[in-house]
Amino acid sequence: MDDRLEHYVTELFAAEDPILSKIRARHAAENLPSINISPEEGKLLHVLLFAIQARRVLEIGSLGGYSGVWLARALPPGGELTTIEKDPKHAKIAREAFDSARLHGRVQLIEGSALDVLPTLHPGFDAVFIDADKEPLPRYFEWGMKLLRRGGLLLCDNAFFHGAAVDPNDRSANALGVRAFNELAAHDRRLVATIIPVRDGLLIGVKTRDSA
Ligand code: DHB
Ligand code: MG
Repeated sequence: MDDRLEHYVTELFAAEDPILSKIRARHAAENLPSINISPEEGKLLHVLLFAIQARRVLEIGSLGGYSGVWLARALPPGGELTTIEKDPKHAKIAREAFDSARLHGRVQLIEGSALDVLPTLHPGFDAVFIDADKEPLPRYFEWGMKLLRRGGLLLCDNAFFHGAAVDPNDRSANALGVRAFNELAAHDRRLVATIIPVRDGLLIGVKTRDSA
């Protein structure tokens, strides 16, 4: 999408309120890696959660809480976002972001490594958004599928990974993880999936069956 059209979408549909702008500014001030989702990707996630009337959502990789605010704001009273973050500095900033957005009652942040935390969660999530380290993506795929309810949404950021998805010469662990995830999502008979070309690619799938 050309920059002017992206700007058009953002201005018209994904304008940030002062709370989101402040979270983004804090993110920059604290020198967090500038890899958070864009406003139009945030709005897309928000719309998707409304479409399925999501109540319980899981995020792997909170970073500074920016995506979590877009996700949690789509939940009804009594709904809950569970978000996992392994970096204590990121976790602290994310908690403050949820407080500033008055979402602390709707967000449970669990500090720890995703592969340690995932086995402790109860299945039945309406949506799982994966936006974390890329090497373990195949394992996050299996956990996502296990923890989703039938009809639930599997969402994964960076499906293109700056073009590495289509560069077989890129044998980095991250690129291999992204390509493996995309292939699992494409071929797993429990899932109907595609990639939306927003920002760095958002993979979206619906879990249509509990077993292949
Ligand atoms: C990068 C971007 C992301 O959105 C992410 O989740 C991880 C890494 C990157 O640009 O390297
Ligand atoms: Mg990402």
